Amino acid sequence: MALRGKKPVIVLDGPAGAGKSSVGKEVAKRLGLPFLDTGAIYRAITLIMLRENITPMEPARLKERLASFSIGFAGGKVTACGEDVTAAIRTPEIDMEVSPYSAVCEVRSSILGIQRQGMSEGLVAEGRDMGTVVFPDADLKIFLTASPETRARRRYEERLGRGETPDYEEILELVNRRDAIDSGREIAPLVPACDAIYFDTTGFSFEEVVRGILEHTARLN
Ligand code: DC
Repeated sequence: MALRGKKPVIVLDGPAGAGKSSVGKEVAKRLGLPFLDTGAIYRAITLIMLRENITPMEPARLKERLASFSIGFAGGKVTACGEDVTAAIRTPEIDMEVSPYSAVCEVRSSILGIQRQGMSEGLVAEGRDMGTVVFPDADLKIFLTASPETRARRRYEERLGRGETPDYEEILELVNRRDAIDSGREIAPLVPACDAIYFDTTGFSFEEVVRGILEHTARLN
């Protein structure tokens, strides 16, 4: 698809730990585009709902609360309703609780507008349903994946790097559990869009994955 001077909308979908965030951020940086991490939105929603005792079984309360929800991404920080939640949304508790909230139809529809806000200026967006639901007309759709063991290992190393003492087996179990919920849910399940490029990154270095995506991007012009 030719861009004719328009800035591209590039989407990366795939399971937890496939490298979508780190790769997406780097691709966005090299292309001079904003980066949208939609998993962070679902994580921030989960944090707020847990604090306010609103469960995934209460769609009407979720919808009402989300009517006044706001999220911001600036300077590497994530703010939700004005509060810096960058660290609070990356805890094992949020990892464990986020999938049921993200499977609620009212939650997904409430944040469609937020996700599409910057699309006319071009962006790199990552998530689970970017190519299928949120940006069905994206200029480039990549489905990024890797074996569960590779993805668990990456999450394990991420946590080690943050000074935590993670348990690899526990992370692997969580990766498998979240894959099952995210792929098996009725609404916006994790499936590649029919026009997505499938990229299994097992055995590829970070730089090789970034370059692979940039090569596809170069062909858009
Ligand atoms: O990418 P992540 O691990 O930060 O995502 C957190 C959760 O949010 C994940 O379990 C699935 C959900 N999610 C989603 O359902 N749709 C998206 N577009 C992004 C994330």
